[in-house]
Amino acid sequence: MRASVLAHRDDANILGNPLLATIAVNPLDRFFVLAMPLVPKVILRRLGGRYVAGANLSDAVVVGKRLQASGYRLTFDILGEAVSDDREVRAAVSEYMELSEALRENGLEMNLSCKPTQMGLLTDSDLCWDSVSALIEAVSPDHGFIRFEMEDSPTTDATLSIYDKLRSRFGNDIGCVLQSLLRRTDEDVDKLLESPHPLNVRMVKGIYIEPESIAYQDPLEINDSFLRNTKKLLAGGSFVGAATHDESLLLELLEMLELNPSWKEHFEFQMLLGVGENLRRRCLERGIPVRVYVPFGEQWIPYVQRRLRKNPKLARYALLGLFKSREQLKVG
Ligand code: FDA
Repeated sequence: MRASVLAHRDDANILGNPLLATIAVNPLDRFFVLAMPLVPKVILRRLGGRYVAGANLSDAVVVGKRLQASGYRLTFDILGEAVSDDREVRAAVSEYMELSEALRENGLEMNLSCKPTQMGLLTDSDLCWDSVSALIEAVSPDHGFIRFEMEDSPTTDATLSIYDKLRSRFGNDIGCVLQSLLRRTDEDVDKLLESPHPLNVRMVKGIYIEPESIAYQDPLEINDSFLRNTKKLLAGGSFVGAATHDESLLLELLEMLELNPSWKEHFEFQMLLGVGENLRRRCLERGIPVRVYVPFGEQWIPYVQRRLRKNPKLARYALLGLFKSREQLKVG
């Protein structure tokens, strides 16, 4: 069940994501991207290694230590989503508990990202509430934080409703994600700002394909919405983690901070492991904190395939790797 949901989401990402469509416009690149499921695990691991810390908890600890020593903030994600069975939800929660224990023992920042459907949103919302509450209670003695992520639009209402209840109970220990491609985001920001409880938002463009009736398709409109809603949140006193590797958007955000220096105290950039490494270094050099998203876990294959689809050059190397020896494979 889980595999089929993931495959469906991955296919949707190839075919309809306007951002991807711009990148993979070259027919040859499109071929390589579409042929991605043929690439054997060993080559995926070799080329996709930069996007995931590894399959095990110990891999995440090693990567986290290196990034923390270089001055980055961290958030850890155990790969997995769309869990439809209570037992799997409980297993995911206990893996997150183990992760928090390892972070404590290794002096790493206690900041976890989890997907609502991984915490039981598809099973029942009470289970999801219990799962996330248990995680917050486990990390709060160490001033930890849980980022309750955002998935595709059928889950948006339920996710925001649980987040609203969680923040009224746990305050600063929980944050949500808003997607600038959704037309509803302006209204969601207004509603979230109405409540007196602390608000902590990761702003993203949105990774899921959504129809034009509910989502902007034009990259410029998506960026306008990103900037507009980030400004509104910061002006309203919210903390914002701007999660993007889009250089032009990043420059606009930096300009926004120059004009409003007091907002810097409740702002950070967030970037994925293995993406935008030069950009993240430059942001840090300009004194703006950057949080790196460190994913790991046994379900790394669909995640790496998605990353390679966003990067046709690497996807091409992965496919060509089928016909070359390991020694011949060189990635620039
Ligand atoms: P854009 O797509 O324009 O990319 C800019 C450049 O960055 C591209 O040219 C490309 O080279 C590179 N790039 C971007 N993403 C890449 C990738 N994945 N692999 C390889 N190269 C890539 N979405 C969501 O719907 N819910 C969520 O909870 C989250 N959470 C999240 C956390 C963090 C820390 C980040 C950085 C992103 C997310 N996202 C997300 C994903 C987000 O919605 C968006 O799809 C990606 O960040 C890509 O959008 P950019 O803003 O980077 O711009």
